[in-house]
Amino acid sequence: MKKIAIFASGSGSNAENIVNFFHEGNRIRVEMVVIDRQNIGVIERMERLGVPVYYFPRKTWRENPDQIIELLRQHDIKLIALAGFLSILHDEFIDAWPRRILNIHPSLLPDFGGPGMWGGNVHEAVLAANREKSGATVHYVDKVVDGGEILMQQEVDVLPGDTPDTLEQRVHEAEYLLYPRAIVEALRRVDTPVNPDVAWAQKLKIDYDPEATRPELPQTPQPVQNEAPGQIPPPLPGTPSPAAAPMNAAPMTSAPVVPVQEAMPTSYLIWSILTTILCSTIPGIVAILFSARVSSLFYSGDIEGAKRASRNAEIWIIISFCIGVLSATLYVPLTFLA
Ligand code: GRF
Repeated sequence: MKKIAIFASGSGSNAENIVNFFHEGNRIRVEMVVIDRQNIGVIERMERLGVPVYYFPRKTWRENPDQIIELLRQHDIKLIALAGFLSILHDEFIDAWPRRILNIHPSLLPDFGGPGMWGGNVHEAVLAANREKSGATVHYVDKVVDGGEILMQQEVDVLPGDTPDTLEQRVHEAEYLLYPRAIVEALRRVDTPVNPDVAWAQKLKIDYDPEATRPELPQTPQPVQNEAPGQIPPPLPGTPSPAAAPMNAAPMTSAPVVPVQEAMPTSYLIWSILTTILCSTIPGIVAILFSARVSSLFYSGDIEGAKRASRNAEIWIIISFCIGVLSATLYVPLTFLA
């Protein structure tokens, strides 16, 4: 079981969505929500869900983050997800959980990010710029506001007649799909030993090609995001020198958007409901129970469990269907005999 903490400062609809997503599985659990202001919506939501909420005043976040870090350590928190958290995170957090702190931002970063770009301001700016697309971004948190490496993005259309409120709603829906997946992916990466060549390629923002035998380095390597222009990062400790690294050095044109590794198995929920109503009730209900578990298992990271639930749902739908057809076939001759 991996325990995660959510930091929030507002309504907490993302926090609620994340808690619900991981509620049923046994791989990931929201251990606590930590907040930096009082009387905010997230408190009531978490009370309802039975998730502990810890409050620390903003001065503590700014000047004495050690006690918050200690609390998180005591609870063995593996990953921190910022969801509408408005304080600037102290560097000590970033050093203590490297590549284990995520943030969600309501635009397609790097556009419409940075200081002042939060809440309605973002959507107003997107509309003022006449963009056809907006969306949500989950990125790693580093020392630059909204500047960390992008983990995943989800696009939404900007529709004619959109107001900041309608656009915000649509982006929020995208966030509910995106954030749990990004958390699963970030935890998966924590568990997967990083190939040093890949890490090096990511740092230099070039494509990694395991098949390439001869390295062709870019003439002028792209500066790493958030580092001073022109500064070339040193190779990571223990990694081969750039000249020896087997990779193909095509410069990347945009930030990497990482898809989820595997598609969610079909839940067959509609078929479960139909067979329950039209065929045989009890096996139909069993099918519904399995169908309902598919997405929660999948988003909790239990991919095998989700596949099993999907297969079981399928089997019980077939059973329900067969019993239904059998009963209907027997019903007519039996009625005649009677
Ligand atoms: C979200 O739109 C998120 O992108 C941004 O703050 C908002 C939080 O909303 N960082 P909620 O509190 O989760 O409803």
